[in-house]
Amino acid sequence: MSTLTRLATAAMMAAGLSLGAGATGALASSGDGPHLKQPNWSFNGLFGGYDEAQLRRGWEVYSGVCKSCHPLDYMHYRNLEQIGYTADEVKEIAASFDVPDGPDEWGEMYTRPATPMDPIAHPYENDAIAKLANGGVVPPNLSVMARARDGGADYIYSLLLGYADEVPEYVLEADPNFSLPPGKSFNHYFPGHAISMPQQLFEGILEYSDGSTPSAEQMALDVTSFLQWAAEPELEDRKALGRYTLLFLIVLTGLLYAYKREIWKDAH
Ligand code: HEC
Repeated sequence: MSTLTRLATAAMMAAGLSLGAGATGALASSGDGPHLKQPNWSFNGLFGGYDEAQLRRGWEVYSGVCKSCHPLDYMHYRNLEQIGYTADEVKEIAASFDVPDGPDEWGEMYTRPATPMDPIAHPYENDAIAKLANGGVVPPNLSVMARARDGGADYIYSLLLGYADEVPEYVLEADPNFSLPPGKSFNHYFPGHAISMPQQLFEGILEYSDGSTPSAEQMALDVTSFLQWAAEPELEDRKALGRYTLLFLIVLTGLLYAYKREIWKDAH
């Protein structure tokens, strides 16, 4: 290997590593379960980015399915303009949610339709109610979930599609006493396998406004991409910076190599 290629490889590895950190990790599996599914995300790789049509479909899945249990803290309706909704569409979307407000002049709290400036409405009034409705577990905030779990997007995608009606053999082999507590569902990817969230995605539970076929896989792909964007809206800027850095390092490597040859040309 010549010095040039060696230097270039080192530069690319350095840039590649810093780009990879924080993106979806390629973590193999959670515990004894099968390997995480690793779909071909639009946002993977040096030139990856978000697909706005997909993010809007993902919002349709969140608001049509996940919203009834999970909050999206830190996000506001106006943020939806960043994925291609017009200001009027955002107004309309916001107005379809009720948010608590008050007190009014009589000292009473009341609800009103949300505006684009409001944070995305919480599904439950408080954690106690959320817990009561979900077998003792509060459905977690989803806005940073893609960064909060090992495996990131691959994990969320696998989890959503990872339900089984019966406890599989590999679990019973590892633990003959394993039994699913009442109210829990079996999931291949959830740590411990007993999850308080029942399976959510079934073919055809919603209609996409762009006419895409709402298969379970498509909905999982779209909603997970949406959650990745919610957790890391600045990903595209970060990748652009990474590409410039890489280009800079390659040019610098070439210059230094030429310079070295110039200095040493008489020594050989
Ligand atoms: C009926 C209520 C309900 C709905 C609807 C729902 N979830 Fe959940 N979800 C839960 C509960 C409860 C938990 C906590 C599970 C536990 O800790 O056992 C959870 C946990 C999760 C987790 C975290 C798992 C972990 O590793 O801790 C993710 C990710 C998730 N849900 C995604 C979604 C997505 C995406 C949707 C929409 C497609 C959705 N959920 C719809 C109730 C729900």
